[in-house]
Amino acid sequence: MEYKKLISFPKDFLWGASTSAFQCEGAYDEDGKSKCERELRPVPDNIADFSTTSDHYHRYKEDIALMKEMGFKAYRFSIAWTRIIPNGDGVVNALGVQHYNDVIDECLKNGITPIVTLHHFDIPNCLEERYGGWRSREVIDDFAEYCTVCFKEFGDRVKHWTVNNEYNSFFFDMLNSSFGDKTAGIDDQNALKAGINIAHIKLVAESKVIGICQEMWSDAWIGPTVHYEPGYAFSSRPEDQLAVDNNDAFRVYLYLDVACKGKYHPLVWRFLEDRDALPDIQPGDMEIIAAHNANWLTLNYYMSATVGYSSLADESVSMAISQDGGADDMTSYNIQGVVKGYANPHLKRSEFGWEIDAVGLRNALRRLAYRYDLPIIITENGLGAYDQLEEDGSIHDPYRIEYLKNHIAQCRLAINDGVNLIGFCPWSAIDLISTHQGMAKRYGFIYVNRDEHDLKDLGRYRKDSFYWYQKVIESNGEIL
Ligand code: BG6
Repeated sequence: MEYKKLISFPKDFLWGASTSAFQCEGAYDEDGKSKCERELRPVPDNIADFSTTSDHYHRYKEDIALMKEMGFKAYRFSIAWTRIIPNGDGVVNALGVQHYNDVIDECLKNGITPIVTLHHFDIPNCLEERYGGWRSREVIDDFAEYCTVCFKEFGDRVKHWTVNNEYNSFFFDMLNSSFGDKTAGIDDQNALKAGINIAHIKLVAESKVIGICQEMWSDAWIGPTVHYEPGYAFSSRPEDQLAVDNNDAFRVYLYLDVACKGKYHPLVWRFLEDRDALPDIQPGDMEIIAAHNANWLTLNYYMSATVGYSSLADESVSMAISQDGGADDMTSYNIQGVVKGYANPHLKRSEFGWEIDAVGLRNALRRLAYRYDLPIIITENGLGAYDQLEEDGSIHDPYRIEYLKNHIAQCRLAINDGVNLIGFCPWSAIDLISTHQGMAKRYGFIYVNRDEHDLKDLGRYRKDSFYWYQKVIESNGEIL
């Protein structure tokens, strides 16, 4: 669709950016905090660990001041469960609560709306050891208790919540390969069943938490954060279009249908039934799911997925990484009998091999908006790249400006398409530690002066993209 005259971004559009606690706070054992599983997972020698990261825990005031200078209207960050209830046993850590009170107040003082993620990959390790973390139903009550503390302590000032960042990665990845040794003790034959059980536990926990929040704060926005790679058919073969539907259903509708419509997606359900892998539903689960629905959607978008038909009869393929090569670990897959990923010849890639597709963001927004009819905010989007700090303190990152400019242009088109897009918070506000590729893979508007192992002075420097984004916000997206 092309328009003769474009409408603008809404006046109160939430321009900002995102971070997550374990990737930027550091201070991983300070002030009563316990460690999360990710902080204890071994990292390769040439990659930074999560002990200090960007030291945002100590420097949040300086960082929020820089966000204000950029003109941020919103800051999406996560609360570390390990700071609030370090032992997972219900005892609340007052210093943890105090820290997030301070961060929230600092945002509000600077005219920045806090958007809070309750869980961003950082389950307390003690719960992993106690009962296997998200593999056990015990986590539902522990998670609900932790979230209840957050709603009680912060809900008077935080009105925008997201529950469990990208909880939709796991099941799809698992279908593609297997659990590997992360879930030692579960063999491949049982992996599918175990995987959907984990997804189900996360979904019940999410619905429960949505219900608690809505009960306590009727003016709160609360919903899921998914990453979504909208499918494109590899060819005009009709079967490849079926694969697109399969891609979208397995990657994202499985989760969003539960969170927003209160029920499982029929296609995924039928697949599970066929593979003898329906989740273990306990009495009351479906009632919880049906009763509590999200009232907004928060979307992480990095790339699309080019997909084709995958046949069960083709013995050359299995639940393993496709040899045809896709864009990255999320698209180079083959789920036999469901969907197979391909590289997209029309798209360029980042230095880290991720396909770059700005139009894909418009596709994603349209599909989600028309399917769920909810307000949407983008909580992640961005380019991981190697940045160079020059001697004069400048950082020239035209590649990041180009990337964001193209994606923001597609946001505006999506708004013109009727999508109720209410904000754009790309990844990331400041440089932080990538989930798998250390400090070298930078996303921020604000450069953090450290290497993988040399912490240097952890000083903050404004990148060229910082000044560019400042103008974008000042002009409410008119000047890109
Ligand atoms: C998202 C995650 O999937 O992608 C972030 O929510 C992550 O935590 C971001 O950092 C970028 O991925 P990566 O692997 O480059 O850090």
